[in-house]
Order: sequence, then C-alpha cells, then structure tokens
Amino acid sequence: MNNNDYIKGNKEKGLTPITSQWMHDIMSHPKVVHKLFTQYGSPLNILHPASFTKNCTKFKEVFQSNNVKSGIFYARKANKAKAFVKQAFKENIGVDTASERELLQSLQLGGAGEHLVLTSAIKTEKQIEIALQNKVPIVLDNDDECILVNNLAEKNNCKARVAFRLSGFYVEGNKLYSRFGFDIDEIEEYLINHVGDGKTYSNFKVEGLHFHLDGYSTQQRSEALLQCIKLIQKLKNRHFSFRFIDMGGGILINYLKHKKEWLDFDARLKQSLKGEIAPVTFNNNGLGYRIEGGIIKGERKTYPYFNEINSERFLEGILKYSDENGSSVATLLQKENIEIRIEPGRSLVNQSGITMAKVVHRKKDAKGQWLIGLEMNMSQMMSSSADFMLDPYVMYANLNEDQTEDKSVEVYFTGAYCLERDLLLKRKVALPQLPEINDIVVFVNTAGYMMHFFETQAHLFELAPNLVYTETSKPVELSNFKLDADD
Ligand SMILES: Cc1ncc(COP(=O)(O)O)c(C=O)c1O
Repeated sequence: MNNNDYIKGNKEKGLTPITSQWMHDIMSHPKVVHKLFTQYGSPLNILHPASFTKNCTKFKEVFQSNNVKSGIFYARKANKAKAFVKQAFKENIGVDTASERELLQSLQLGGAGEHLVLTSAIKTEKQIEIALQNKVPIVLDNDDECILVNNLAEKNNCKARVAFRLSGFYVEGNKLYSRFGFDIDEIEEYLINHVGDGKTYSNFKVEGLHFHLDGYSTQQRSEALLQCIKLIQKLKNRHFSFRFIDMGGGILINYLKHKKEWLDFDARLKQSLKGEIAPVTFNNNGLGYRIEGGIIKGERKTYPYFNEINSERFLEGILKYSDENGSSVATLLQKENIEIRIEPGRSLVNQSGITMAKVVHRKKDAKGQWLIGLEMNMSQMMSSSADFMLDPYVMYANLNEDQTEDKSVEVYFTGAYCLERDLLLKRKVALPQLPEINDIVVFVNTAGYMMHFFETQAHLFELAPNLVYTETSKPVELSNFKLDADD
C-alpha cells in the first residue's frame, strides 16, 4: 500500500506531544515536503510566526485583565530566526538582545531603542556603544560594567538608559543564589552612594530593576517582585524613580498532552535502570538518574515537559500572588505605577517550529538494536535538557496498514557526528514498521532552544536552513515556505 501516511512513534507508552494544526498540514503533504528537502537539504527547520502571535496575545491579555502597565520583550536567544524578531515588532512588542549581533540585527530589522533591551552576560565596549547610540536600555550586572557604561556615556555625551539586575532574593528564609546581578542586600547602599548627579556614576538615566531567575517557580518570581517593589518604595525618598521591573523569562510551557504518560515514563526509566524492564533509553542512559547499590539516586535532568500551570496561567499566578498584607503583586504594581516587563523566550516560540530530517540508513547493531541514521546531527536538536522528551512523527512513503503481520520495531535515531553519543533522542521509539530510506522523521515544537542553541558546524556541516511557513486558505504548497530573511 502506498498511502503517504505519517504516524507518531510510541503508540503506547509514549510521550505524546501537544501539536498544532499547521504541523499536521505540513506532514500530510509529503510531496511538498520532499520538494523542500530537494531544494534545501536535510535537516530543515520550519518556523511558524503565526503561532508566536498567538502566544504573544495570551500574555497581553493577562496584563490587560490585571490592569498593569506592561512590556513584553522576546528573548531571541531561544531561536536565531529573524522571522520571530520581525513578528515581535509586528506585534508591537520588544526584543531582549544578549549579544552584539542579536542587538545589531534587531536594530536592522526595525527595532528602535524603546523596543529593545540589552541583557548580555558579557558586555563589550562595542555592544555598549551601539546600545548608547540607539538609546537601548542596558541591564547592568556588576560594578565594572557600571564603570564602562558610565565612561562610554560620557564619551558619547549622552545619558545611558539603565536597569540594575538583582539577585539573592529571599524565599521562605532561603537566599536564591545566582552568578548574575547585584545582591539585593547591597544594591540600596550601592545606588545611594554611587549613582546620581555628582556621584561616581552620573551619566545614568536609571529606569528599572531587572532579574531573571533560574528554574520555574512562580512563588520565587512573585517574592522577587515584591522585594523589588519594596526597594523602589524605599529609594523614592532618595530621588530614584524606577519606572519598570523586568522579571526576565522562564515562563513554563507544557509540551505534553498527558500527565500520566509523563509520570509513567519516569517510573519506567527508574525500572529500566534497576534492570526490572528492558532499557527505555540508549545504553540505559539515566537522563540524570543513576543507580547505586540498587537504589536510584540523583535527579532527572530534563526540562519539566509536563506542566499544568503554564504560559498565561503561569504569568497570572505571579501577578495574583499576595504579600503578607494580602496585596497582590498586580495591585502593588498599579499603586506604585510601575510597568512590569517580561522577557519570554521559550514561551513565545511555543508551537512555532518543527525540525524534519531524512532517513539515510537503517542498521542493526551488535546488541540487535535498530539504529536509524538521519541526515542531521545532535547539535541540531540539543538543549540543556538531558533529552528531548517528545515522541517524533515518521512520514512513511509506504506504510503497510495490514494488521495481520506485525512489523513493529523499536529504534534509536542516530546522527552524523563521529561521536558514539550522537543520538538525536536518547529514548527508544517504537514504530509500526521500519522506516525506509528517504522517509522523514519530524520532531515537533523545537523552536525554543532545540534547533539553534547548541548548533555547531563540526565536520563542516552546513547549518540547517530555516524556512518560514505562512499558511493560506489553499492546501500546503512550496510557495508557503520562504527562507528566513531580512525582508
Ligand atoms: C536574562 C534572560 N532573560 C530572558 C531569558 C529567556 O528565558 P526563557 O526562554 O526561559 O523564557 C533568559 C534565558 O536564559 C535570560 O537569561
């Protein structure tokens, strides 16, 4: 039978991803997809800016319904594509830039100072000069940066628009450590003593406070906001008027349809490490867990792929959180007339990208495991998470739906680097039949940190092309895809 079908791996015991209609529209047009591979090679990153807009609208609605002044700055580190930067400006939101090229390119794509912020961990003279010349607010991290920015502002005969990045907030009696920012315990004195007319740093226009917390706690973010608000209240009497607090990113998203699958996988991973069931990962990789004396130790080092409180509900939770007097974060922001800013990366590009690769070979290794070689390498779908925990789809040219014969196989997808560990997914994937050469494997929801963040060019491999997909009312065709470009 030749039915050009596509199917999700792991029909049972899977991790079923949340998907969008546009992804299915593409997967159900194999002829178009094959033409894309002929034209652009493998793998292909497909980007869908319309989904970015949907995410953006949800955040705007939360701010509106909570009646707070707000600013959204897309953290473009999550994805390199220009398409999302352009989409951000179209949506009248800003862009958070974290390097010279991110900043320059965002300016070239039409971002003005008001629509940008510079948050780089390392700020070079050149970056700062560009920011100053374009009136882009600079988020200051340390005293050396203050010296440099102040000097360069003087040289450029301007005031530097600045915000101070803070860390070390207290949550339930514990101080949150971060390598970034000024300590919350020291910033008040630092500002009073060093910043302002006639002081060491007299070339600053102080506009805001900033933080970005590791992890995904709404409580920590709310507590940090409350501590920032308190600081702003105190500093008012010292002639500081802050107009915004930027709470960075880290808004959780939900990748998975079923909580049960997520919990079950965790249980099976532990069972497989104990040798109670067959390995569920390549070489029984514990994804952070390890076994010591028959006991599971450590933590799973993956993104929390299933989250009930995600996206707009996550943001809502932060704003609704109350202080000890019962005032919500939102109410306090309103009262103090403070604009709340966010820098979402992953959550703005949720459902906005897929990565597709062609099957090049199939082989059985010495353990009898099927390895499916894809024209792609591990760096083209890699994040800080120990594995990408979403079941992939396979677009079969010839899927035999005759149920009388069981052709099912369990496979691992392998990549093009010369490393034993170039596995595109560490998880084993069950398929209804062995893919054929030139069949296509589709990894969904890869726009946030997966497709670009750790992408490398070892072996002189080309970087994967990024194609922007714009749908029309007509069936999917080649002209719906355009290379990510300036215009
Ligand atoms: C300063 C800052 N802002 C925003 C972000 C974006 O975070 P996320 O993609 O989790 O929303 C990051 C991520 O590292 C960051 O460091």
